[in-house]
Amino acid sequence: MKKLKLIGPISQVLTLDHLPLKGALKDDQLELIEQAGILIEEEKIFQVGKWENLTKQFPEAEIFELKGDYVAMPGMVDCHTHICFGGSRAKDFAMRNAGKTYLEIAQSGGGIWETVTQTRKLSQVDLAKITANHANRHLSEGVTTIEVKSGYGLSVEEELKMLRAIQEAKSLTSADLIPTCLAAHMKPKDFSGTNPEYLEMISTELFPILNKENLTQRIDAFVEKSAFSPDEIKPYFQKAKEMSFDLTVHADQFTVGGSKVALESGALSADHLEASGDEEIRNLAQSNTLAVALPGASIGLGCSFTPARKVLDQGGALAIASDWNPGSAPMGDLLAQASILATFEKLSTAEVLAGITFRAAAALGLADRGKLTQGQLADFILFPTKDYREILYHQGKMKPMEVWKSGSKEVRKTGGMDALKSGVR
Ligand code: NIG
Ligand code: FE
Repeated sequence: MKKLKLIGPISQVLTLDHLPLKGALKDDQLELIEQAGILIEEEKIFQVGKWENLTKQFPEAEIFELKGDYVAMPGMVDCHTHICFGGSRAKDFAMRNAGKTYLEIAQSGGGIWETVTQTRKLSQVDLAKITANHANRHLSEGVTTIEVKSGYGLSVEEELKMLRAIQEAKSLTSADLIPTCLAAHMKPKDFSGTNPEYLEMISTELFPILNKENLTQRIDAFVEKSAFSPDEIKPYFQKAKEMSFDLTVHADQFTVGGSKVALESGALSADHLEASGDEEIRNLAQSNTLAVALPGASIGLGCSFTPARKVLDQGGALAIASDWNPGSAPMGDLLAQASILATFEKLSTAEVLAGITFRAAAALGLADRGKLTQGQLADFILFPTKDYREILYHQGKMKPMEVWKSGSKEVRKTGGMDALKSGVR
């Protein structure tokens, strides 16, 4: 038997076990183990049960005794971020609040292109440090798995720089980083050909290197008027599929079209969906593609929220992610955003917690995390309360006191943006 660690006693452990991947959830479906302990073996959960029983049954376990009240839940999974970027878009923020729209700013040369310009100026090492700082801030707030997109490079070399930086950042954080190639974020302004020519170049020149260097298994595209049309993305996705990549889509953010592409291509997830109508939601709910709500982008742009309630009531699978990016969602606080979405969309606590744990893991194709059950990764977080409802009630202001990743207790790293020296926490 390998070395065991036993953490507790814990007032309530929310296992998130026995819940379906799809559909609405009521809070009384949540499995709550009271006066509990979490027993871990190496990086995995060995058992979750009553503290009293575990201490008797496993006297050899090293005890990590907790004083006071705690609620434990699985480490959060943020299945959609753009935390590898340079610079700031404070100018866009001010312009939007003065009346310009996101798309108008993009058309006048700001928006994503501004971040591309800033990101291209940075070395791979500096980008890796920035990414790791963002990831470590997220980790200290309880997010133990973080998807990270490229998409601010927009040439073969610059996209490679981003994806290699994300790879390099893995050694600077204990959060798990899941990279995604978003070279189809927009056609770069310095590319003289057409949209299909740009996509053709990416799929023929970049995709094989991604495979060879094992830089990512995932391809994303922004299907939108200002970016790529459904007809342009379909053949691009076809090539990606032939090369065994998983797919995900920035879909129906301002205009509809992307979610249909996601379904037709068998994408793992369709993210955004703020503009989706009843038909899009119904089709999505009936499919195996997860819907990902990004409340941070709705808050950032001042537009409507993803119709999350409808997705769930139609029987769909809903994950919630931060979309942390410098343009539309600079806050990067998953818990706060999920709590706010709950208020506007009338989501149960069970639906929100499922959406930021095992359902978000499913959006990344990961089945080994997001629940506190035997064999799952020992990724869990401890909040200083005895009532799990307090977590969302505080709208993100209650942060976990302890974060455990793969069986080890994280030592809090301060700040998170030291490399940027921006003072933003
Ligand atoms: O998910 N919608 C497109 N992409 C990002 C925003 C990126 C940016 O504005 O820099 C999003 O919101
Ligand atoms: Fe995004």
